[in-house]
Amino acid sequence: MVLIYQDKNSGGVIVSNKKFIVANWKMNKTVSEAEEFLKRFISLNKNIDIEVAICPPFLCLEKALKICKESKIKIGAQNCHFEKSGAFTGEISANMLASIGAEYVILGHSERRNYFYETDKIVNKKVKTVLENKLKPIICVGETLSEREKGKEKEKIKTQIGLTFKDIPPEKISEIVVAYEPIWAIGTGKTVSIEECKEMFVFIKNYLAFEYGLKESRSIRLLYGGSMNEKNAKELLSVPNVDGGLIGGASLNPFKFTDIINQAESVAQ
Ligand code: 13P
Repeated sequence: MVLIYQDKNSGGVIVSNKKFIVANWKMNKTVSEAEEFLKRFISLNKNIDIEVAICPPFLCLEKALKICKESKIKIGAQNCHFEKSGAFTGEISANMLASIGAEYVILGHSERRNYFYETDKIVNKKVKTVLENKLKPIICVGETLSEREKGKEKEKIKTQIGLTFKDIPPEKISEIVVAYEPIWAIGTGKTVSIEECKEMFVFIKNYLAFEYGLKESRSIRLLYGGSMNEKNAKELLSVPNVDGGLIGGASLNPFKFTDIINQAESVAQ
């Protein structure tokens, strides 16, 4: 996690580099399975020294919030609708999520873009409503394998960030978390190489600074997602500008997820 604050004595800006680890459970775990996981996970992680958020299915949110109330673990959702209420069968609004105490919402995940036809324009509307409700969006961006093979990955990320950040008030920019998840790395066991990771994160950081200002961009946290697990977390989290990870499969097991948290803590400066 990048925390920027004024130092009382020197007046200078201090940047704390603690990592931010987010679990995206996707469509996994019943309420009782979530309860079992969370109780075990809390018992394994009594002194967490980084920020951790768990994003279970909607149905588990209330239970998760209750169980994690006394812990440092934050709870987020995996999606929401952009309208506040109305005739949108099967949908959940940001306002509803805020009302139960959720803190984060994952938006524009490639699975939502792919299977539910979410466009950057739709994601942008969701980002706005999430921010209006004082929740923090985790905006997912990423290229397909063919885009990477054609050398078009940076262009894709630039377009996705540009469109999903459109008309976001400057004072809200720092609330946003961006997760770079190459689509070909999700659930495949493949990850970007360390060099590719370095290059992409420098690119995103520079692009954000250029478009939204150095100060604002410094507080936007950048996560890597796509087959991050207990074997590769430390290496990926050590890459400059990687502020944390968005983890799918490996976040479903409390022991593996704890292992990743421990590695993130050891990387945090
Ligand atoms: P995996 O960690 O299972 O590859 O999933 C990544 C992801 O999509 C997180 O949002």
